[in-house]
Amino acid sequence: MNGRVIGISGPTVSVELAGLKLYDRVTVGHARMTGEVVRIEKGRSIVQVYESTRGLSVGEPAVATGTQLTVRLGPGLLGRMFDGLQRPLESLYAEFGPFIQAGRESSRSWIARSLHFVPVKKPGDSIRIGEAVGYVEEGPIRHHVLADQAGVIDRIREGELDPQSPVVSLSDGRQIFSFHDWPVRVPRPYRRKLTHFEPLVTGQRCIDFLFPLARGGSAIFPGGFGTGKTILEQTIAKFAQADIVVYVGCGERGNEMAEMLDDFTHLADPWTKRPLMSRTIVAVNTSNMPVAAREASIYTAVTMAEYYRDLGYNVLLLADSLSRWAEALREISSALEEMPGEEGYPTYLSSRIAGFFARAGAVETLDGRTGSLTMILSISPPGGDFTEPVTQACLRTTGSFFMLDTDLAHRRHFPAINWFQSFSLYERDVSAHFEERVSQEWSALRQQTRTFLQKEASLREVVEIVGTEGLQDADRLLMKTTEEIRRNFLVQNAYTEDAFSSPEQTLERIRQILKRHAAASERLEKGELLDNVLKERA
Ligand SMILES: Nc1ncnc2c1ncn2[C@@H]1O[C@H](COP(=O)(O)OP(=O)(O)O)[C@@H](O)[C@H]1O
Ligand SMILES: [Mg+2]
Repeated sequence: MNGRVIGISGPTVSVELAGLKLYDRVTVGHARMTGEVVRIEKGRSIVQVYESTRGLSVGEPAVATGTQLTVRLGPGLLGRMFDGLQRPLESLYAEFGPFIQAGRESSRSWIARSLHFVPVKKPGDSIRIGEAVGYVEEGPIRHHVLADQAGVIDRIREGELDPQSPVVSLSDGRQIFSFHDWPVRVPRPYRRKLTHFEPLVTGQRCIDFLFPLARGGSAIFPGGFGTGKTILEQTIAKFAQADIVVYVGCGERGNEMAEMLDDFTHLADPWTKRPLMSRTIVAVNTSNMPVAAREASIYTAVTMAEYYRDLGYNVLLLADSLSRWAEALREISSALEEMPGEEGYPTYLSSRIAGFFARAGAVETLDGRTGSLTMILSISPPGGDFTEPVTQACLRTTGSFFMLDTDLAHRRHFPAINWFQSFSLYERDVSAHFEERVSQEWSALRQQTRTFLQKEASLREVVEIVGTEGLQDADRLLMKTTEEIRRNFLVQNAYTEDAFSSPEQTLERIRQILKRHAAASERLEKGELLDNVLKERA
């Protein structure tokens, strides 16, 4: 369908084009810039354009593509970096230089070609949608090729993948390729959601031990400027026990992404010892790229993450930061002159956020495998005020919450996770796993640690009034121990060897601290002087 541009207001373009539906993808102008239909009115439709509309004028063509905004899913995604519209940044850079011009279609050059396809079905077999017809080995994983259509196989070919030729021809002439397209705003289907939770080990002691995460769960960590959000996201991306990591740099600084990519090419995944980049997909829409595409970028990313879940893998989606996505949503909404809700965000902010979180989960796939998609999202509340709408909307849906504390960050206590304000709803389910896998002592030591930290807080109030001298020896000892817990257990420097701690190392470390405490208490009870006891402990 062809039409024309009848009005332009920044990235919001009105077009006269018949037969459009909401969220249809449209290209506008001679440069064929990509946009999405966000509103349909009598006689015109409003298109949100994801590229700079500079140079576009009224009267230029508008063309309906007949599809929604989609991503292409198949072997070749791993190890790549894409922009918010899934255009591979390396090849765009190679082709067009650092300034990506409007309308550049992704060259799709990332689609794997040199991998060997092995069929698991044969001519005459009937196949269902979502069933594997064969596989290729893609870096660290076996990549199943899923049927995107049902039918009876006429031909299936073994050998090198060729993006131009199908891997399967069906008896009625339809074809199945090694990749397929999927609309980013539509959650991918599965057989059922699983309700039991297994731990997602992050390698961060404070998280794994005090506020553990579950595969298929979600976590948010809001924090003011400089509280360590980006470092925490990137550290977890490096060390988490996940098969696939999808990292979204959303509206943050570009140089941070560059440093991260450098790290990821040099460092190895502690679990498989392979280069980190081989299990990672990066989607970036940094602060210098078009704002509107930022809104799409998290959907592009979550759809790629769901795809690997559907192949039967444990996928971790990280986004830094969800607030920048929400700001893009607010900008779009205000350009459309929609009725604003709280703090100018659209009234549908909460339902959008809830819909996004609903895409996390552990599932039985259409093909009968088990896969999971876990989300860890940073939030940057303006002025560090956690009552703002984005944090609040996320709090209603998330399973765990790590509050990053400005005071802790000022004292260089990193990760600056506040151990009183944070929570994890997965703790009970996940602790049972750690008891089985690491040690029967796991939950008891955890409880003891929490109790000590709570006691410390009330003792501090006493100290403020009467000084340390006013405390009994047993309490002074406890404060020495909690100081050690904070400095040597909760603090974890991202720039040293200590950046990653396995569950076994985590348990051993806290066990030693608490063991020393018990021995010292015993000596106190036998009447030894505190100063003697502490001297020998040190
Ligand atoms: N785990 C950590 N170990 C050591 N330093 C850290 C850690 N987390 C944060 N920092 C320090 O804090 C600074 C700010 O962190 P960053 O993640 O950029 O904050 P944010 O993204 O919240 O603004 C970093 O440059 C680093 O010096
Ligand atoms: Mg940051």
